[in-house]
Order: sequence, then C-alpha cells, then structure tokens
Amino acid sequence: MMASQDQRSADKPLEMLLSGGGLGAEIRNLDLRRLDERRFSQVRQAWLDNLVLLFRDQDLADAELIAFSRRFGELDYAPIQENGQRFVEGLPELYIVSNVVENGEPIGSLGSGEAVWHTDMSYTEVPPQASALYALEVPPTGGNTSFVNMYSVFEALPDRLKQHIAGLRVKHDGTYNSGGYVRQGVTPSDDPRQAPGALHPLVYTHPETGRAALYLGRRRNAYIPGLELAESEALLDELWGYVENDDFTWTNIWRPGDLVLWDNRCTMHRRDPFDAAARRVMHRTQIKGSGRPA
Ligand SMILES: [Fe+2]
Repeated sequence: MMASQDQRSADKPLEMLLSGGGLGAEIRNLDLRRLDERRFSQVRQAWLDNLVLLFRDQDLADAELIAFSRRFGELDYAPIQENGQRFVEGLPELYIVSNVVENGEPIGSLGSGEAVWHTDMSYTEVPPQASALYALEVPPTGGNTSFVNMYSVFEALPDRLKQHIAGLRVKHDGTYNSGGYVRQGVTPSDDPRQAPGALHPLVYTHPETGRAALYLGRRRNAYIPGLELAESEALLDELWGYVENDDFTWTNIWRPGDLVLWDNRCTMHRRDPFDAAARRVMHRTQIKGSGRPA
C-alpha cells in the first residue's frame, strides 16, 4: 500500500480543489499517515499558497496527528486547559477542543458558544506558525469554522490607512481565550492598557512568502501603544471593519475525519456556536513559530 502511494505520488500532481472563497483548498485522495517527501513538499507549498488546507476522510490516531504535524516543524505544548489540566497523559502537544463533559469534568476547552475571530496564541511572544485541527465528533449543525485571509484584508486597506499603521504595534490580549474564558493564572481586566499580552507589529511580513498581512490577533483588550485609548479603539474598529468581508473568508462545514491545517501567521478563524447538548470533539496540534512576528 505504501509502495503504491509512493508510486502514484512520483507521477501525479496533487489533486487540489480550491474552496472558491477568499482562501483555502481541499487536497483530495491523500492518506496523511503515508506521504513521501515529494508529496509532503507539494502539500507544504499548497499550504503556503492557499493558507488553509482541508483533508477529508482521514483516520488518525493521536500519535499520527502529532507525527504529521511535526513534519512542518517542532510542536508547541498545548496551553493549559480551562480546568487547569493538560488532558492527554504523555501527549503534551495535544489540545482538546470540546464541549463534552464526562463524569462531571469537561474533556476539553472552549465550550459550545461562539468563538470570535482570533489568531491562535498570539498573546505569546512567538506565536505558533500553524495549527492543525482534526475532527473526531461534530454536531449535526453549527460549530463550523470560518477563516479569513489577512493578506487580502491588508491589501484592501486604503493607502492612507496603510501608511498610518506602518510601524505601529498592537497588543494581543492574553486575558481571555477565544471562547471568552479567562486564561489560567490571569486576573481579568477589561482595560486594554493594563491587560497582559504581547506586542506585535500591525503589519506582519510573512517570513516564508514575504507578503504583508494585517496582524490583529483578537479584538477584545487590543491596544495600540502610544495612542490614547479612544484613538486606539477607533483605529482598531476601523481596521476590524475590513475583516468582515465575504470575499476574504471561507467556512469549513466539518465532517468527522476532517483535518484542517491553517497558517496562523496570515489568517484568523472563528467558530459558530452549536447546541450545547450535542457532542463536538476536536484534537489540535500547533507548530512552533520561527521567531517573533516582524
Ligand atoms: Fe483558535
């Protein structure tokens, strides 16, 4: 089986179906457990070109999800979950995104509410360059994940705004996670000037593609140092106004067995709410960033 896939990959280009949205492509007929080096380098290039890749009908054990993710680079350890635990003994790279409660304990993080637009872990100095999210159980409706192309958002800004934000930095809040829960060990504050977080340039040059992306991270508690709070809020609201543009987005309607890999440097994502009584179980890994965003 391995030999035949190697044989095919030596001859054929990737089977790729563009999403038709502002980013994203589905790569078809690949088993992510069995990719030779040539195939893998095609996948990596497709990922840089399309920002988000969808692979359907995968059958990955946790160790296989970790092994595939690790081909992109060293993995980050998962953040501590909302109840203070890392959930998977012996697999510290694995983060469980789930609303399921078993024996009174949540098995994962982020609940069933809306998860607002964000970049993963951009409140850290060196955010992960990529995230991989693998669907094990999905609710019958809702819980879908949308992505936005932040190269396109930057390109859509009028020149005066591009000039205005050149050289400015923005604080990426470390108080709340994308589900709105306060992170472990943080005293919540809703003053963006006081909230903990990392400062990153508003315009980020992608280290591999060389393209400029608007780097917003998340809206809540964001702050542009050097500006009065009201001025910072107004400028951020103006910039965020360019994010909600259907031309720049694409939504994955999840099926079990979907693996979605996104470039965390030039995209944001959000999740629709879903019925709290339905089960949604996703396993996530993250690939370490190569350095501070610049
Ligand atoms: Fe996320």
